[in-house]
Amino acid sequence: MKRFFPILSADEAAALVQHDEVIGFSGFTPAGAAKVIPTAIARKARAEHEAGNPFKVGVITGASTGPSLDGELAKADAIKFRTPYQSDKDLRASINAGKTHFFDMHLSLLPQYVRYGFLGPVDWAIVEAADVSFDGKILLTTSVGASPTFLSQAKKILVEINARHPKELLGFHDIYEPQSPPFRRPIPICNAEDRIGTQRVWVDPKKIVGIVESNRPDEVKDFTPVTDVTTRIGQHVAEFLAAELRSGHIPKGFLPIQSGVGNVANAVLGAMGEHPEIPRFQMYTEVIQDSVIELIKQDRCSFVSGVSLTLSNPVLQGVYDSLESYRGRLLLRPQEIANNPEIVRRIGIISINTALEADIFGNINSTHVLGQKMMNGIGGSGDFTRNAYISIFTCPSTAKGGNISAIVPMCSHMDHSEHSVQVLITEHGIADLRGKDPRQRAATIISNCVDPAYRDLLWTYFKLTENGHTPQSFRSAFAFHEAFLESGDMRRTTF
Ligand code: COA
Repeated sequence: MKRFFPILSADEAAALVQHDEVIGFSGFTPAGAAKVIPTAIARKARAEHEAGNPFKVGVITGASTGPSLDGELAKADAIKFRTPYQSDKDLRASINAGKTHFFDMHLSLLPQYVRYGFLGPVDWAIVEAADVSFDGKILLTTSVGASPTFLSQAKKILVEINARHPKELLGFHDIYEPQSPPFRRPIPICNAEDRIGTQRVWVDPKKIVGIVESNRPDEVKDFTPVTDVTTRIGQHVAEFLAAELRSGHIPKGFLPIQSGVGNVANAVLGAMGEHPEIPRFQMYTEVIQDSVIELIKQDRCSFVSGVSLTLSNPVLQGVYDSLESYRGRLLLRPQEIANNPEIVRRIGIISINTALEADIFGNINSTHVLGQKMMNGIGGSGDFTRNAYISIFTCPSTAKGGNISAIVPMCSHMDHSEHSVQVLITEHGIADLRGKDPRQRAATIISNCVDPAYRDLLWTYFKLTENGHTPQSFRSAFAFHEAFLESGDMRRTTF
């Protein structure tokens, strides 16, 4: 089949890419990311720089990618701009040094930004695939992300056929691109398992310039093992959801779960699986992490719709070894559909995301360490939080050995406002913020969620200003952050 398109080496493919071009790469988390061509583009960039020539490209992906894409291109100083999300240490360093222009976007919006032309023309779509047919039907691998849009919008296409991924993946994807306004119709998903699209991405075969063969595994990092703190957070989430079920707020059959990224999210899902009162549930989520596969194996999760199979390599191999047992239980969709506010609101998703920092009024910072340094990005957390049936944020109450309180007087950067955040949970307990005014929210958060070492400090702050609907002191709102920058310990805060 591949004989219908020229087979190129990665370097031959990279040679076609020119300075200043914009590339839409496959990849949503390191899952399904193009790997050998971006590494070759980084090699080309280094050679051009050594020869005294400029070489940078615009890099758009579904979400974060791995070292072969973001890492190599960042180290080669080959990125003109980057969006919508990242988590690579080299790229992060370049962004935080002000060298790489990164704009952090709600992931559901990225594909329509590309289609509307807000990011300018896309020269190349470079996507990893398990297979491509002579008439341009592309079978994606472990993620869908924004690839259908890159493939429909780009002038030219390069495909990395990765032999690690079986052709039996056919049927695990549901590809659907909404039309642009004013012609957009309702997206016809009423249940997590509804299928609305095609199994492969259909492209004009004339746009496929070449195929590069690859065998590289996805570069998903292992999760850190659950700790006492993350276990307790997970137990509180499970306990909260069981209580909501008992009170009738959540229907008996339960509602679909969205679970965020990272170590805390992994532990939360584990705890939900173990709770005796939580029934078998469905997930309508973005990233499918290792813990979800465990829940499917235990038959605690009946079905999961997501954007990427972000699995460590042994777990992915386990799925491939018994792929047929997952058919009808796992479905990968474009991020525009998985994270779509219309669907999130319609099907009543319970969203569970992780905060870097929260303030006593329930505002959330998901992205910026001490208000300045980009961690990863907002990802899909805003897509889900704003529209969820119940939106929950979790985080350990402290970071850096207790020197940082994750709960502060005022967030140093704002991603999710008090209007969208309904529940905050740390290892110390649960703050249910629904129906509470700012003063009541502050009292609940300080009493239930804050580490004991910081409770008195936050009560002191809360009582500094008696006036206003939301009592704030401009002079002291960032006293916690200043204390950390000056002494390395927020416990030394003075007001
Ligand atoms: N100030 C400074 N550093 C902090 C901090 C704070 N308030 N809170 C956490 N950190 C540090 C931790 O110390 C840790 O640092 P290290 O890597 O040097 O050890 C790092 O942040 C990650 O913390 P961890 O507790 O391991 O969190 P995690 O793996 O669960 O990830 C987020 C947490 C917030 C970074 C991650 O969930 C994220 O990127 N979220 C935004 C996107 C999102 O929510 N997507 C979901 C949509 S589906």
